[in-house]
Amino acid sequence: MTDARDFVRDLAQENAAFWRDRDVRLDPAAPPAVRREQIRYRMRQGVYNELRSVELIAAWIPHVPEREIRDLLPDQLDDEQRHYQLLRRRVIELGEDPDAYRPLPEWETLFDWLVACRARPTLEKLAMFQFAGETQSCEGFETLIALAQEVDPETAELYRTRILPDEYLHAAIGRRALTLLADTPAAQAQARAACREMNERIFAAYRAHRVRVDRRA
Ligand SMILES: [Fe+2]
Ligand SMILES: [Fe+2]
Repeated sequence: MTDARDFVRDLAQENAAFWRDRDVRLDPAAPPAVRREQIRYRMRQGVYNELRSVELIAAWIPHVPEREIRDLLPDQLDDEQRHYQLLRRRVIELGEDPDAYRPLPEWETLFDWLVACRARPTLEKLAMFQFAGETQSCEGFETLIALAQEVDPETAELYRTRILPDEYLHAAIGRRALTLLADTPAAQAQARAACREMNERIFAAYRAHRVRVDRRA
């Protein structure tokens, strides 16, 4: 059997391979005006996702009986709530009204599904959201920061200093959970399948997101 630590490392590499060139939300080759538009939409997604993350973690906490893992979740909830407020404030500064945002169906579907997964085993839930999802969001934020640097440096700074460091901690919660719980071949297969399921769903959301941005819907 693969040692849990080695398994987590291998699975992280598999996830990274899955994600190579698949984040279609931002187009590095687009002219600055289009890029600025894509970043704005990305922030709108951020306001929505941070708030739904609060709701999601609140829904999951009662279904995480493993004390060592459960104890890490309230801090994550607190971080996501702070990120929501920070992004809300920033989009208001940029002249938008977050209360007037239309729903983002692709992200609504993803979060509704995650909330509905609350009763699944901790190993699967944390493989999906903290391990696969948060690791991918760190990657996404790195790209966003690099692309925003030129067209909206203040927003880039906000993500770099106030949001990204917390998201790396959330991804670490996922690694911790898998290291503790993926300790049999069956558990490792379960974690791997949960990651694959999550990655496919996130990728579907990314594609739908991009279609909407291109249509300016
Ligand atoms: Fe966050
Ligand atoms: Fe997070």
